[in-house]
Amino acid sequence: MKTLVLANQKGGVGKSAVATLLAHHLVQHGRRVLAVDLDHQGNFGSPIQRSNRATAAGLTSDRLLTEAVSVMPSAAFVLVPSDRGLLMLERQPTMHTPFARNLRSFLAAMDAHFDVCVIDTNPNPDIRVIAALASADFVLSPIQLNQEAMEGVHGLLNHDRVGVRKIKAVLNPKLQLIGLLPTMVEPTPFQKANFLQIVQRYHPLLIRIGDGPGDFASMPRRSAIAEAQAHGQVLWEMKKTAAREAAKEIEPTLRELARIVAGQPQVHAQPGVSHESAA
Ligand SMILES: Nc1ncnc2c1ncn2[C@@H]1O[C@H](COP(=O)(O)OP(=O)(O)OP(=O)(O)O)[C@@H](O)[C@H]1O
Ligand SMILES: [Mg+2]
Repeated sequence: MKTLVLANQKGGVGKSAVATLLAHHLVQHGRRVLAVDLDHQGNFGSPIQRSNRATAAGLTSDRLLTEAVSVMPSAAFVLVPSDRGLLMLERQPTMHTPFARNLRSFLAAMDAHFDVCVIDTNPNPDIRVIAALASADFVLSPIQLNQEAMEGVHGLLNHDRVGVRKIKAVLNPKLQLIGLLPTMVEPTPFQKANFLQIVQRYHPLLIRIGDGPGDFASMPRRSAIAEAQAHGQVLWEMKKTAAREAAKEIEPTLRELARIVAGQPQVHAQPGVSHESAA
């Protein structure tokens, strides 16, 4: 199992929306997906739950840090939803190391049962984000193309607690930054200029989806994406033409992200091995 964390200290940049779209995309392509929502706002867990595609884990994600959990339901798509208990974790600094250790052991115990674990995080750089990054294989940072977010890129890499460079150096050398994913991209001259600026300054951090000069992974701003999030619908199954068009636009980006975290698509002979028996 590969673990992907969505992280950016900037709020409202599309972390949860990307997590949701990618989880559904992976499931649609035959991957066994474990979805973990570490944000008490629940903007990843709620749409997944409302979509009725995932089996509920029967516990909330705070317990993956506070307890030794090693069993999940036997299903190809499982959701560990968030809970307000997550807010208590930061206030127990003496427990932070055990919290991170519990999450790491949990993910190790899930290794044979899922192909990808997608973890959505809260924007404040606390123990939840640290614990997730300390055990992940990949981190993906959605960003918006505004000045403030672009200035935030430096922090994303160098933040004292949750900067990717810091985590790699101190806690998790295997952590790989997939890159920056511009989200809610609009075809305005302002955003085009910012995109150019990002390409010039950070192009090694952008995710290539083709050989052309502007072929980088990104998500356009589309009301159908917000609607899918709000109602727990799977974007590409919505009836509206606008939703299907949006799905088509983002498909190359989702496909590339899925390829990076899970490799080329393959069909599992036995999706959903019995976890209980193996645990
Ligand atoms: N590509 C998009 N097009 C249109 N709306 C979007 C898009 N991506 C996200 N949104 C909407 O923008 C809002 C913020 O997105 P989202 O909740 O994914 O951000 P976030 O980074 O997870 O926020 P937080 O930091 O609070 O967790 C939501 O209402 C979401 O539905
Ligand atoms: Mg979110």
